[in-house]
Amino acid sequence: MASAILVRLGLLTLCIGLFGCERQISFAGDVQPIFLANCVVCHDQVAEGVAASGFSMVDYDSIMKGTKFGPVVIPNSSISSTLYLVIANKTSPEIRMPPHHEASLAEGRGTPLTQDQIEIIGTWIDQGAPNN
Ligand code: HEC
Repeated sequence: MASAILVRLGLLTLCIGLFGCERQISFAGDVQPIFLANCVVCHDQVAEGVAASGFSMVDYDSIMKGTKFGPVVIPNSSISSTLYLVIANKTSPEIRMPPHHEASLAEGRGTPLTQDQIEIIGTWIDQGAPNN
């Protein structure tokens, strides 16, 4: 009996430790505040990010629409999503977002998102990028 309980406890720990058994991320509660604080200053209807890429991040529909070249969020696959790649330092420095390559840093703008913020956005995409 006791060992059965121990096995269950062990599995639970494994689940939390290895696989995350992640909580459901909320677009409105978790993801959008990060975008509003770090991205929309350039990716609104008029600013430089939108002028260069056509990518507005003012609301869910704009984010899912993507740039003038197409979507940057591929639901269920953060690793195929340009939006994730540019925030997670998986691209060349010039296109990291928010811009935090040397030129931007020298101009005093652009610091990377925190690891937690990057994970929240990646998990949200992997959970299907819902408008929740
Ligand atoms: C200081 C202004 C600025 C901020 C802040 C900013 N961006 Fe950008 N972003 C740009 C510019 C300019 C471009 C166009 C760059 C280019 O085409 O080389 C761009 C392009 C992009 C692209 C398209 C990349 C591609 O290759 O298609 C994505 C996705 C993106 N930004 C996401 C974000 C996200 C997410 C944030 C917030 C975490 C953010 N940006 C913050 C200025 C900004």
